[in-house]
Amino acid sequence: MIHLTRAVRAGTAVEEIIVPGDLPIRSLQTIGDREIRGLSEVLIDCVESGASVGFMHPMSRAKAEGYWQSTSASVARGERVVLAAQDTAGRIVGTVQIILNQPENQPHRGDLAKMLVHRRVRRQGVGAALLVAAERSALSAGKTLLVLDTVTGSDAERLYARQGWQRCGQIPNYALWPDGRPCATTVYFKFLRN
Ligand SMILES: CC(C)(COP(=O)(O)OP(=O)(O)OC[C@H]1O[C@@H](n2cnc3c(N)ncnc32)[C@H](O)[C@@H]1OP(=O)(O)O)[C@@H](O)C(=O)NCCC(=O)NCCS
Repeated sequence: MIHLTRAVRAGTAVEEIIVPGDLPIRSLQTIGDREIRGLSEVLIDCVESGASVGFMHPMSRAKAEGYWQSTSASVARGERVVLAAQDTAGRIVGTVQIILNQPENQPHRGDLAKMLVHRRVRRQGVGAALLVAAERSALSAGKTLLVLDTVTGSDAERLYARQGWQRCGQIPNYALWPDGRPCATTVYFKFLRN
């Protein structure tokens, strides 16, 4: 059980540990083999649970690790921030990303992506804590506008709406569920302020 009893500390540098309760959320400066294994566990669990997050069934370890290896290279190039929530045993249980590299006429914008929480720890506030940390991380990277898309009617949609994200609209047939059925997406944005 994860207890989220203390607030995320305001102004904490995201390179350091942000601690809501006893849940550390870290910005992964480098993503090595250990992190790739932990992040892959979370990604595989989410796809197996039926989430539409870029992958189809069957979800293999090789596909998951390949994704995190290329994400690791992207972090090293400074193109994105990867946050990871860990349980008290140090295992990664959730993650979210901010895509920083945008066209030169949108330096103030970032994309929020790959919000993933392992089923083992869902509905305990991990997703909400990751979202707060991601918004802080984006602000400290100079971003004042975040954009995301998420499956229409999903658990994630409620999470974003609850944390003040503005709904833009829905795109039918945007993607596929992992089993091949089409699904709609809803686009959200949020202006960030200190
Ligand atoms: C969407 C997702 C990230 C949410 O993660 P989470 O950690 O369960 O999120 P939270 O715990 O902050 O909130 C989830 C629910 O638990 C509730 N909750 C939070 N803490 C709680 C607690 N201590 N006791 C009871 N309920 C609690 C929230 O109110 C929320 O309720 P709702 O779904 O009825 O609105 C997770 O379901 C997930 O990974 N889904 C699969 C991947 C996916 O679709 N990602 C989105 C891509 S855009």
